[in-house]
Amino acid sequence: MKELAPSILSADFSKLGEEVAAIEKGGAQIIHFDVMDGHFVPNISYGAVVLKSLLGKTKLPFDVHLMIEDPDLFLEEFATDSTEYITVHQEACTHLDRTVKHIKSLGIKAGVAINPATPVSALECILDEVDMILVMSVNPGFGGQSFIESTLKKTKALSLVRDEMDRYFKIEMDGGISLDNVGRVLDAGTDIAVAGSSVFHSEDIAKRTGEFLSLMGE
Ligand code: DX5
Ligand code: ZN
Repeated sequence: MKELAPSILSADFSKLGEEVAAIEKGGAQIIHFDVMDGHFVPNISYGAVVLKSLLGKTKLPFDVHLMIEDPDLFLEEFATDSTEYITVHQEACTHLDRTVKHIKSLGIKAGVAINPATPVSALECILDEVDMILVMSVNPGFGGQSFIESTLKKTKALSLVRDEMDRYFKIEMDGGISLDNVGRVLDAGTDIAVAGSSVFHSEDIAKRTGEFLSLMGE
């Protein structure tokens, strides 16, 4: 099953509950939370308080994307009752194997993200441990950026590596995904597509979400 994970970074925070209800109505399967600390990325977004404000308000699970230094210090805080994935950046983790095991020890699926300039080979020794790999299709830190086409080759290469393995992990792509390129994103082997501005900056959020899902064959 292909999943759409709208990123609330692009939502109108003055009516976040309404906008989350709209993506839920449109058929989105998971909510993407972009957590930024102003150090790992040149922007600050929000903390776990925003996730907690939505607990009990939506049935959708949470896909937490930590774009922060020292994520181990914050894993428990983001491990809410609705958190399905916590994803850390390979580039931010000195002891990535320990961090991935730490996430899993909390009963949460572990994701590892790589930036556009980080090769798939950097993941070689962690693929047996992860539940998901996030291939960034923009340089992290902001919504509304343009899709970096060359990242599709990375996703394709990663999905071929996965085909050779006797275990499965999901592949997520994140950044600059729109109705125009989501087909190519899925064809490259992506299971979960993150879309922020193309969903939340549309005229009708529920309708746009539904358009994504029908293009994704869901
Ligand atoms: C960027 C974030 C992405 C971004 C997606 O650092 O990880 O999730 O918010 O937003 P769009 O779809 O607008 O690029
Ligand atoms: Zn993200």
